[in-house]
Parts: sequence; C-alpha cells; structure tokens
Amino acid sequence: AATGQDFKVADLSLAAFGRKEITLAEHEMPGLMAIREEYAAAQPLAGARVTGSLHMTVQTAVLIETLVALGAQVRWASCNIFSTQDHAAAAIAVGPNGTPEKPQGVPVFAWKGETLEEYWWCTEQALTWPDTATGGPNMILDDGGDATLLVHKGVEFEKAGAVPDAATADNDEYRLILQLLTRTLGENAQKWTQLSSEIRGVTEETTTGVHRLYEMQQAGTLLFPAINVNDAVTKSKFDNKYGCRHSLIDGINRATDVLIGGKTAVVCGYGDVGKGCAESLRGQGARVIVTEIDPICALQAAMDGYQVATLDDVVETADIFVTTTGNKDIIMAADMAKMKHQAIVGNIGHFDNEIDMAGLAAIPGIVKDEVKPQVHTWTFPEGKKIIVLSEGRLLNLGNATGHPSFVMSNSFANQTIAQIELFTKPEAYPIGVYVLPKHLDEKVARFHLDALGVRLTTLRPEQAAYIGVPVEGPYKPDHYRY
Ligand code: NAI
Repeated sequence: AATGQDFKVADLSLAAFGRKEITLAEHEMPGLMAIREEYAAAQPLAGARVTGSLHMTVQTAVLIETLVALGAQVRWASCNIFSTQDHAAAAIAVGPNGTPEKPQGVPVFAWKGETLEEYWWCTEQALTWPDTATGGPNMILDDGGDATLLVHKGVEFEKAGAVPDAATADNDEYRLILQLLTRTLGENAQKWTQLSSEIRGVTEETTTGVHRLYEMQQAGTLLFPAINVNDAVTKSKFDNKYGCRHSLIDGINRATDVLIGGKTAVVCGYGDVGKGCAESLRGQGARVIVTEIDPICALQAAMDGYQVATLDDVVETADIFVTTTGNKDIIMAADMAKMKHQAIVGNIGHFDNEIDMAGLAAIPGIVKDEVKPQVHTWTFPEGKKIIVLSEGRLLNLGNATGHPSFVMSNSFANQTIAQIELFTKPEAYPIGVYVLPKHLDEKVARFHLDALGVRLTTLRPEQAAYIGVPVEGPYKPDHYRY
C-alpha cells in the first residue's frame, strides 16, 4: 500500500487511469457538473470540513471534487471493505494537479480488500482532522451510517466514562469498534465529545443508514441534524431501482459469467432495490421468483408478473439467490445446505448479515475455496458446492463497480444539495431527520433531462390553476408516491 503524508491507498501509479475514468464520468454526471457551474462562484461550502464514508468509486471521485469545487475540505473513507476502485482512490489522493511523486489531492483512506480492522482504522482517519480546534469534521457525508455510528458510540461511552469490554461484543465488527473506542478513550477521554460538538449535520445516502438515524431520533440520542438523502425521489426511485437493475447482473456476470437466461432466480425483498434486481434478471431471460413479508410489495410483485413464494418453497430448485431486504438472517446455513450444486448466492443489501456466512462456515466438514477475489465456492461434505459472491457483502460493488455514473449523478446531486442546506442554514435544521424539499428533488431531475433528449411539456397557467400547482412546480403533494 502507498502511504503518503496523509492518505492510504493501494497504488498511486493507478492515478492516471483513475483520472481518465473520472473525466469520462464527469460527462455522464450532468447533475454534479451543473451544481459546480451554479455554485462554484459563491463557494457555499467554504469552511466546511466534510468527512465522507461512502464507496470510493469513480463516481464518488466526481462527488468529492464537486464538494471541493464548492469550497469544502474533504477527508474520505470507503463504507465497505470490498467496494473501493483502487484507481479512483489513487486519482483522488494525487489530485487533478498532482503527480504520484507529488500527490496534492484529498486525504483518502481506502483500498479494495481491507480487513475489518483496517476498515475501522480508515473510518477513524477520515474523522480525524489534524490541526483543527475540535480535531474533527463539521459535516459528515455517510452511506450506511458507520461514520455517524462511530461518533455516537464514542460520545456515549465518553459520557459513561467507560467502554464495554470488547469480549462482550456479539459480533466481530462490534468487537473491533469497542477496541477502537477503548484506545481513543485512553488517549483522549473527550475526543468524540469534542469532535461532535462542531458537527452541523450528516447527509445519509442509503435505506439502512436512514433507518439507523430514525432509530436514534426516536431514542432521543441523535447528536446533530440529518438529511435523509435516500428518500429523495430522485435517489431511491432511481439509484436503488435503476442502479441495481444495471449493477446486479454486472456483478453476477463478472463473478461467474454464468448464463442467466433460462435459470430460476430468487429475489428476496421487493422494495426499491428488489424491483430493480428482479427486472434485470428477467431482462436476461431468467424466471424470477420474489419473496416478501409486506403484503403490498408482495402484491406489487405478483402484478408485475413474478411468482411470489417463500424461500422454503424454492430453495431446492432455484439457481440464483439475491438478498435485497436490508434485514438480517434471510438465507441461513440450513437453506444453503438444501440448494442445488453450484447455486449462486449473493447479497445486494447494505450490510453482510442477510446471508448467514458464520453459520455456513460452521457446518462441520465444509470447505471454502477461493476461485478469485470475492468469489468463493463452499463444498459440503457430500460433495455439493455453492458459489457465494463477495462473502455476503454487497455484490454489485464487490464483484463489479457499483452503479454507473448517470444514476449516481442523481444521488450525489442530492447529497451535494443536502450538504449545502445543512452547512449554510443550521438554524433551519434543529436536531432531527429531514428530507429535501420537493422543489430541490425536481431540480435534480431537471439537471438530467437534456442529456437524455427529454422534451418536457410546459404547464399552461390555466392548467396549473386547474390542478392547483405553480407553473414552475413543485408538481406533486408531499404524500404522492411516484
Ligand atoms: P426497501 O425497504 O424499499 O425494501 C426492502 C424490502 O425487503 C421491503 O419491501 C421489505 O418488506 C422486504 N423484506 C424485509 N424483510 C424481509 C424478509 N425477511 N423476507 C423477504 N422480504 C423482506 O429498501 P431498499 O431501498 O430496497 O434497500 C434494501 C437494502 O439495499 C438496504 O440495505 C439498502 O441500504 C441497500 N441498498 C443497496 C444498494 C446497492 O447498491 N447495493 C443501493 C441502494 C440501497
């Protein structure tokens, strides 16, 4: 790994390749480029110190450089151990004007294939700002809520004056967090309290992270305001759906190159992500079966033409299994034991607890073998194998390169606007969780129309009056569901 003054990436010599892909991506990200044009002169993020914890991909590089163009200082880590694109991380560390010998970019701590211990070290580095009064950021940009979690747990234990014994943790990851916080408590008993005091807010990218924020709000433990970027319409109804429609099969293809047509594929969960996944598998000619717990989503799946079954009904006969629920314990070891030889199992939900990897590893006599990084066969004692992608972590980022630029331009335009909102109008956002107002959602959509040759119809004043909306929008009430 290449370590600079203040960054850690896999290989700085990949920077030129990263820069070429960033340049191509900029053209595919009209939302971010329009925001640069609109706001660069005003520098609304001047003075902002943004800690980002979000997959360090080419698209994220364009987001980072947009924040910088608006005046922000930035430190970055990835939010998953397998999701970094090393050439993108190198290009960000080097910066547009630097060279691998003389890097001048953004402090970034991310490489593909981190250990969990390294992952939490990277998150801590992104949150630790040298030479500042509080030693920390004043803004967080999060995906899944890990940076926000570390700050909140740090403050909680500093208040209590002690960190629980790491041996009491019920999983490896929490044990690592407790060990990290035990160390910081020893070094500086006010590190996280001090650091959080200046944080104006967090903007959260994904369903799972947003879920954590509402839980903290309800428990009264939320320390700073948050904008739920996920539930902008131009985020969850686009990235989660059309993004996964692209990147799910990209991941399966790169990992296995198995012909999807004619196979039976099971999609667990029919929310925004599940809808995109089911459509992409059907587009390849698979017969798709959906599992759901919510009668509304189950009915939607049926009306969209999918069979809806329980996992039990189909576990022995299907070829491909994908979890998309954001819930835990969806495919258990006992399920995998019943699958066909060379069934493919993968997850596209945010965390790695949808597939019971620990239970699989604990089956007596089972043998794990690496086909290539992020693709493993697990051979059962009787000789049957299954193929598990990305060790149960999100396969579209682990086995492929995540969502393509155009859809991420929508998500990241929302992220950038949310950062500007929270940073420049702290008085408008007391501690709580907010979604962006609809006129900004519509603005993000507008940024993306020209590139696709969309010709929008203009509402005539009499028509606007008849349906009771302003000619310039917003066009729908807040309860409208799209
Ligand atoms: P969602 O809430 O719209 O959909 C999840 C669906 O799973 C719901 O309809 C729910 O009823 C269903 N479900 C819950 N428990 C279930 C069970 N035991 N069996 C079957 N179905 C069950 O959430 P969304 O937006 O679709 O996100 C799902 C996950 O994907 C989240 O963890 C989110 O953070 C993540 N995500 C991942 C992306 C990626 O690129 N890999 C992109 C966007 C979101």
